[in-house]
Amino acid sequence: MTREWTKREIGDLTGKVAIVTGGNSGIGLETSLALAENYATVILAVRNLNKGHEAADKIKKEFPNADVHVLKLDLSDLQSVKEFSEEFRRKFRSLSILINNAGVLKPPKSQTKDGYETQFGVNYLGHFALTGLLLDLIIKTPDSRVVSLGSISAHNLKAEFKEFTGSKKKSSNTMKKYAQSKLACMYFAKELQHRFRARNIDSKSIACHPGIAQTYIFGKGSHKFKTRLTRASLKVIGQSAEMAAYPILYAATEYSIRGGEYIGPDGKKGIKGFPTELEILNEQFVENVSNNLWVLSEKLTGVTYKF
Ligand SMILES: NC(=O)c1ccc[n+]([C@@H]2O[C@H](COP(=O)([O-])OP(=O)(O)OC[C@H]3O[C@@H](n4cnc5c(N)ncnc54)[C@H](OP(=O)(O)O)[C@@H]3O)[C@@H](O)[C@H]2O)c1
Repeated sequence: MTREWTKREIGDLTGKVAIVTGGNSGIGLETSLALAENYATVILAVRNLNKGHEAADKIKKEFPNADVHVLKLDLSDLQSVKEFSEEFRRKFRSLSILINNAGVLKPPKSQTKDGYETQFGVNYLGHFALTGLLLDLIIKTPDSRVVSLGSISAHNLKAEFKEFTGSKKKSSNTMKKYAQSKLACMYFAKELQHRFRARNIDSKSIACHPGIAQTYIFGKGSHKFKTRLTRASLKVIGQSAEMAAYPILYAATEYSIRGGEYIGPDGKKGIKGFPTELEILNEQFVENVSNNLWVLSEKLTGVTYKF
């Protein structure tokens, strides 16, 4: 890609229904704003309804005609994921864009309601279940897209998903677990595209990463990220949440997307810049590991993909 792609290139999204998980904050909110500005129907899938409505008000203040809805989704609870998908089905008949954006970084040592390490459970397993539960709607919607969020922290990382099979296992290195959870999201995106293509399904699955943006995610985790100095330096080296949303928006709306790409900022070390297609995921992807992760995820979530 030689040109500098910006959100001004997003076309008219009238008639498209888009879900943004964690759409109330940071990069998810910027993504939701841009989708709503371009006339998509946007569903903010949030764990805290008050925060969701505050975000919806922000969007409507900026774009008074925005079609924004707030639905409860707690990715750390597979029952909540199920209830979200049922509520969504009652209200909407199609799903053009699913943005699996919500995430946690270095939370205090904890597990999801279903007993999985929190980062792996929220960032990856919750989204795996969500996508599977909405699969029929995604497949029947023309040119539908599933966008999954990776991270620079997962680049050049060897996949070590086996350690998550012991559901009650305690975290020793939480940053490593975060990176593995993001790598799992990146593997998922490629594997889903592979499965779409093998069945001649028109839907597309794309992975992306936002570079680095000083968002709320760094304020919720370990003490390391809470220091003012670290937050200030993140601001200096990184980019705005608005720019960090570009790879997501590109993956979700750019007409030339074929599916299976990995999109990220084009600047030095991928920290900031305009969205471009990256090779790194192709280089580190291991097919049989990905297939094993898929089988494991169906088992852990109890969600079987019905293509
Ligand atoms: N910022 C970066 O530099 C960076 C770099 C690489 C990747 N990413 C990825 O970008 C994505 C967005 O992060 P961000 O930087 O915009 O951080 P953020 O502002 O903290 O947004 C994270 C969102 O996820 C939601 N969330 C957390 N746990 C959830 C749960 N159990 N169920 C449902 N929603 C939940 C949060 O809800 P609450 O508001 O209720 O907490 C929030 O809306 C994440 O996937 C992150 O891993 C970010």
